[in-house]
Amino acid sequence: MAARTVADPDPRRFDPMDPATQELFDAAAAVRANAHAPYSRFPVGAAIRSASGVIFAGCNVESVSFPEGICAEAAAIGAMVSAGEREIVEVVTVAGGERVTTCCGGCRQRIREFADPTTPVHAAGPEGVRRSFTMAELLPESFGPEHLA
Ligand code: THU
Repeated sequence: MAARTVADPDPRRFDPMDPATQELFDAAAAVRANAHAPYSRFPVGAAIRSASGVIFAGCNVESVSFPEGICAEAAAIGAMVSAGEREIVEVVTVAGGERVTTCCGGCRQRIREFADPTTPVHAAGPEGVRRSFTMAELLPESFGPEHLA
């Protein structure tokens, strides 16, 4: 059973031990093993639950032409959209190191495309979820598809 190591400022908002979140964590941790990260040596896994309940996972895929690498979140979103889904209901990312690794700025915008302000995004280490955020906390006052509607 995964344990939380860093306290969420408001642990009542989300339950990171929720079985559905655990399932998402397991998928992200598993796909992280396939990361291609020989340059950063920082493998990341991401798992998304879509509106239909299906889990889509992706890992970071680096390139010797460094800027061409893609993040784990981008790979997971690509898998979801390729399967014909357009709505993200929960995200877990898994990365190593001591710190809480949150999604990069570009991936926050990528998730925002398919999420709403209340969508939970959990930042995990290999041992389990460390911090949980809403989409709006990660990307406040964001630009979204509705602005072009
Ligand atoms: N990375 C991700 O895949 N997702 C994140 O949320 C943070 C960073 C990747 C990009 C790069 O391959 C490596 O981690 C180091 O930045």
